[in-house]
Amino acid sequence: MSHTSSIPASAYHKHPLLMSAERLQVMRDYARQDPEAFWLEQAQRIHWHRKPTKAFRGSFDGDVSIKWYEDGLLNASVCCIDRHLTARGDQVALISHREGRENAEKLTYCMLHERVCRLANALTDLGVEKGQRVAICLPMISESVVAMLACARVGAIHVVLFGGFSAEGIADRLHDSGAVLVITASEAKRGSKSVPFKQTMDEALLKAGKDSTVHSVLVVRTSEAAVPMLPGRDYDFHDFVDSFEPDFIPVVMPAEAPLFMLYTSGSPGKPKAVVHTTGGYMAWAAYTMGMVYTQHPGDVLWCTADVAWITGHTSVVYGPLANGGTTMISDSLPNAPHPGRWLDLVDEYKVTMLFTSPTAVRAMMADGDEVAAAHSLESLRLLGVAGEPISSDVWLWYHDTIGRKRCPVADTWWQTETAGIVLGPVPGAQALKPGSASTPLPGLELVIADQKGQIQQNMAEGSLCIARSWPGQARTIWRDHDRFCKTYFSMVPGFYFTGDGARRDEDGYYWITGRMDDVINVAGHRLGTAEVEDALATDHRLVESAAVGVPHPVKGQALVVFVISRKDAVTQLTEAGIKTLVSDTLGRYATPEDVYIVPDLPRTRSGKIVRRLLRKIASGEVDNFGDLSTLTDQDIVRTICNFVQDKK
Ligand code: WT7
Repeated sequence: MSHTSSIPASAYHKHPLLMSAERLQVMRDYARQDPEAFWLEQAQRIHWHRKPTKAFRGSFDGDVSIKWYEDGLLNASVCCIDRHLTARGDQVALISHREGRENAEKLTYCMLHERVCRLANALTDLGVEKGQRVAICLPMISESVVAMLACARVGAIHVVLFGGFSAEGIADRLHDSGAVLVITASEAKRGSKSVPFKQTMDEALLKAGKDSTVHSVLVVRTSEAAVPMLPGRDYDFHDFVDSFEPDFIPVVMPAEAPLFMLYTSGSPGKPKAVVHTTGGYMAWAAYTMGMVYTQHPGDVLWCTADVAWITGHTSVVYGPLANGGTTMISDSLPNAPHPGRWLDLVDEYKVTMLFTSPTAVRAMMADGDEVAAAHSLESLRLLGVAGEPISSDVWLWYHDTIGRKRCPVADTWWQTETAGIVLGPVPGAQALKPGSASTPLPGLELVIADQKGQIQQNMAEGSLCIARSWPGQARTIWRDHDRFCKTYFSMVPGFYFTGDGARRDEDGYYWITGRMDDVINVAGHRLGTAEVEDALATDHRLVESAAVGVPHPVKGQALVVFVISRKDAVTQLTEAGIKTLVSDTLGRYATPEDVYIVPDLPRTRSGKIVRRLLRKIASGEVDNFGDLSTLTDQDIVRTICNFVQDKK
C-alpha cells in the first residue's frame, strides 16, 4: 500500500562507494537529454574488441527491429573473465556450495579462465560451431557457470533448461532450439530427494528419436551412483574435458550475435524462447547489476535463483562477473536439513548482498523470528528480491529481521524479456517504499496505458509499458518474429507491453499489481494457464479444464485446476492422476495445488469460461460473486462452491 511510510535514503550507513542522490539525478537528466551518448557511455562498463560508435538503431513499429551497439565486436566470456585477470586474477570469482560437502569450491578468476577454456576446447573438439545451440541442464554446481561461459567463448548460443522440466518439456525445447549438444548431470540432490537429471534427459532424447539434432551429451557425475552412458554419444564431463588445454582464443562476435535464448511461458500456450544478443545484453547486465548491486572490494553476492531463469543468467553469472565481483551459488534448500539453512550460509560465507525471491522470504518468515535471531547476519549490507510481488509486511520483516534495519531492501521488477532490472531503487540514493519496486533505472522510460491504449500522466493505474528500447531488450522469439511483434508490440502500438499491470503513485514510484494475461506466478515461476490446459487436454476422459491462479501464503500464487470428466469414460479420472499428468507433461514445478472434478464450469452465453469466478471460488469465497446474469447456468456456481467447500 502506498500509504506505508517511506524510509529515507539517509536511514542507512552510507558507504563511500554508494551513489549519491545528486549523482543519480545527474544520470537521469543525462540519459533523458542524450540517450545515445548515455548508452554509449554505459557500454564502457564492459570490454570490447572493437568499441561501438552507435547505441540504438531500430523501431517498435511494424516489423519491430531492435539493434544495439551494432558495429561493436566482443566476446562475453572475455568481459566476465579475461579482462579481470591482471587486476584480480586471484580474487574468488565463484563460490559454489554443495550441500553435504565439507568445503565450498572457490574458483578464482584465473581458475575460472582455465576451466572455461578447457570446456571451450572440448566443445570445439566435438564440432560445436558459433551460432549453434548448446542445451545446459544442470543443478546449481560450478559446471553450470563454466558451461555458460564456455558456450559464450566459442560463440555458441546457450539454452539453459530448468531441471524441474519433464522429459516431454525438455524434448520440446531441444527440438525447438535445434540443440546439437547437451551438458547435464547424473543427478541432483534436493534435500533428501534425488532428481534424476540424466534419466530425464535420456527419456527426452528418446522422445526426440530420429528427429533429434543432439549428437553429444556431456554428463557431470554428481554422485557415486552408476549412470547409464550411451557410447559414442555420452561423455563423462571431467574425464573428457579436463585433458584439454587451459587456453582458448575467444571467438570475437558481432554485438548483435545471439548470446543465449531462454524459454519462458506466456500467452498463448506454447513456451517460447526469447533471444538475447551479446553486446547489448552484456552492457545491460553490467549496468543494471552495477546500479543496484554495486560491487565493493570484498563483497559476496548470493543470488539464490536457479541458473535456468533470467535472474540466474544476469544476477548469478553475467552481471556480477562482468563487474568483477564474487558470486555465490548453492544447491541447498532454504529449510533443509533444518530451518535457517540459508542463513547459516550467509554467516559461513560472509555474504554481503542476498538476493532472493519473495517466496523464500515468506518461507523464512514462516520459520519464525527465533531462527533469524540465532544467526549473526552481520556481513549483510544489502538485501534484494525479485520475481513476484512482495507485500509491505513481508518486505518489512525482511528489512527488520534479516537486515536488522541496517540493510536497504531492493525490490526489483524485471522479466526474461527485459533481461535485467527495469524498476528498482539505487541503494543509498533514494527513499524506499515497502512493497514498491520503486522507480525506473536511468535511461528507461516507463508508461502506464489505459484500456484504450492511451498513455496516462502522473498518478495512474493500468498496463505497464516501456516507451523506448534498452540495450538488454529481447530481440525476437526464436524462429517466430511474428509472435514477438504480436505479443509485445500490438497491445499499445509503438510501446513494449510488459504483460503486467501497475500503479504509479504521487512520487512516481511504481506498484506492480500483477499479470494482465493468463500467466500465473507460482513461487516466482512463470506458468501459462493455457499450457496447463493443453497438457490436460491430452487425456480423453476429460471434456474440458480451466486452470487458475489463487493467492497462496508462501508461494504467492498456487495453481488450481477444474476439470469436467466425460460421463462415458471407462476408467475414472482421479485428482492424483490429474496432478501426475500435469507434472509429467510440464514438470514438477507445475503440479497443481488443488484439483476439482466438477460437472460443468460457469460460462457466458458465448461459451467463454468465467475464470474470474473460478478464482474466487478456488480462493474459498462463497458469495459476493457480483452480477451472474450473463451466465448460461447460474446454479453451477453454487454446485462448484459446494465441491470446493466439501474438500476444505
Ligand atoms: C514476471 C516476469 C525478476 C526476473 C525474474 C522473473 C513478475 C518480476 C517482480 C516484482 C512484482 C514481479 C512480473 C513479471 N515480477 N519481478 N519485483 N514485483 N512482480 O522473470 O520469469 O520472466 O517473470 O514476474 O509479473 O512480468 P520472469
